[in-house]
Amino acid sequence: MCGIVGYVGKSQAAPVLLDGLAKLEYRGYDSAGMAVYDGNKIAFEKALGRLKVLSEKTHDGETMPGTIGIGHTRWATHGEPSEINSHPHLNESETIAVVHNGIIENYAKLKDKLISRGYSFKSQTDTEVVAHLLDYYYKGDPLEAITKVMHRVEGSYALGIIFAEHPDEIFAVRKDSPLIVGRGKDGNLIASDVPAVLKYTRNVYFIDNGEIAHLTEDAIDFFDVDGQPIEKESKTIEWDAEAASKGGYEYFMEKEIHEQPKTIRDTLSHHVKDGKVNIEGFNMSEDDMRQISRIRIVACGSAYHTGVTAKYIYEGMCRIPVECDLASEFRYRNPILDPNELVVIISQSGETADSKAALIYAKEQGIRTLAIVNVEGSSIARDADIVVLTYAGPEIAVATTKAYSAQLMTHYLLAISFGKALGKVSEEDEAKYIQSMRKLPEQIEMVLNNKERIQRFANRYVTAHDVYFIGRGVDYAISLEASLKLKEISYIHSEAYAAGELKHGTISLIEEGTLVGAVCTQKELLPKSISNIVEVKSRGAFVIAVTTVGNTEVEEVADYVMYIPETDQYFTNSLAIIPLQLFAYYVTLGKGFDVDKPRNLAKSVTVE
Ligand code: G6P
Repeated sequence: MCGIVGYVGKSQAAPVLLDGLAKLEYRGYDSAGMAVYDGNKIAFEKALGRLKVLSEKTHDGETMPGTIGIGHTRWATHGEPSEINSHPHLNESETIAVVHNGIIENYAKLKDKLISRGYSFKSQTDTEVVAHLLDYYYKGDPLEAITKVMHRVEGSYALGIIFAEHPDEIFAVRKDSPLIVGRGKDGNLIASDVPAVLKYTRNVYFIDNGEIAHLTEDAIDFFDVDGQPIEKESKTIEWDAEAASKGGYEYFMEKEIHEQPKTIRDTLSHHVKDGKVNIEGFNMSEDDMRQISRIRIVACGSAYHTGVTAKYIYEGMCRIPVECDLASEFRYRNPILDPNELVVIISQSGETADSKAALIYAKEQGIRTLAIVNVEGSSIARDADIVVLTYAGPEIAVATTKAYSAQLMTHYLLAISFGKALGKVSEEDEAKYIQSMRKLPEQIEMVLNNKERIQRFANRYVTAHDVYFIGRGVDYAISLEASLKLKEISYIHSEAYAAGELKHGTISLIEEGTLVGAVCTQKELLPKSISNIVEVKSRGAFVIAVTTVGNTEVEEVADYVMYIPETDQYFTNSLAIIPLQLFAYYVTLGKGFDVDKPRNLAKSVTVE
């Protein structure tokens, strides 16, 4: 998975490309490159490592003149991260340059054919095949060459292409990899994702599979895979440019943690009308809801974790059966689906390959699908029968925080709607839930105000080797997320267990000083959770507990307690996650790692 950008306009292209790439670095950051038409030829620069290496090499783009260009930030799939493998890739005469996000599945076969026709390859990438294939088909008409290439290559791709013989034009095509086109005042842009263009425009086109975009400084045209002109409508994006900048914070993750109160307010203002959940926002009637026999949640990573929380909530609040599946497992295990079930796909990016495949699989089986997605116009948002957008705004840090919170909120609101339709949630219950949800933003701010204390504590644990998180019920669900947050950015080994499960093996790993995070927000389960804390304490563990104000008995057993304000039992995850996100953040900061770009990870995983 990688990020692509392109710009044609009045300004110098290279700085615009670097700026766009900086917004896409979450998609990959092992190398980067740019190609610009400098007035005579296509000039290009590539650099191994973070984008800043490319910026330094080109003096923030200044050394690359020209007002048209394409850029790329890479997350290696075919060929190790290296300068030679980084994009752009060019034909031998360096008159065609290509940047690519996706995988050309039949590249080996095409490569052999091209080699037999005399082409030679410099890199180990699948993308170089596209550059040579374009060269092979190009007879003066770029569109013709591109459509021929599209008919030959298999796999997924978003491509940005420039031709030296057409120095005022950018071509871009898409199949199964995200691509947008932005219409700016001083020029037009292509990008893998909206944040890359927000500084220049909020007027964008979402390119569909098999479509080609043709951009000049002041015009944008679209064609189908056969080169026939098509009409497309642009959309105005609500996100503002500020949302994709760090806004004074050291890292995006820090900023996004602090944006969670806003995320919750925005979600409520979109879904609550006159003190009631507005069912219209879910594009389902109460009758539709009553016909659903089971909810099956399918997702990856943190989105899956919100699904685990949601299972407890839908089942507890609405008494509707829920199954939770990892998207990568779902379609390969030949699942037994009920024609009346609802498959709920959760995804921040809307582009995760496994989640997307799960959605298609469910649709093929004739099952109704609902997607909870943050990115409007993303593949999952476009393919699902029902789309419920989350209101987190652009999330840039690889480790999700505010999108996670937005997904939780969406589940709460959906659960209330289902509960009402099924006669399990009364009007009084609904009013009580809404009142509790409305308090969440302020309560999160209270937790955030305590961050120095969490930082002081986190600083003591930068050298920890293993951290275990335990909890029961929704506290187990949040333990999964707390553990993932910590390990993905700090590289500290961490696991999460249902607290009662620990003694079936893992407790043998607890020794003097092992750090255990115990989440115990559920009043009814508190005595059981306290017993579990005592179990690990007596094996030498150092226990940090996250609990609700008032549960003072936890202080008697835990070594360090982080309190969250009181809320409804179903909504505690929205509060308990905050100190745990901050803990992961500060441990990582203390270790001196790049919080926003953890090694080996990418924000949106578009390969299976
Ligand atoms: C990656 C990200 C996670 C995310 C997961 C699913 O692993 O690093 O933060 O939860 O993908 O992504 P999605 O975009 O589908 O929510």
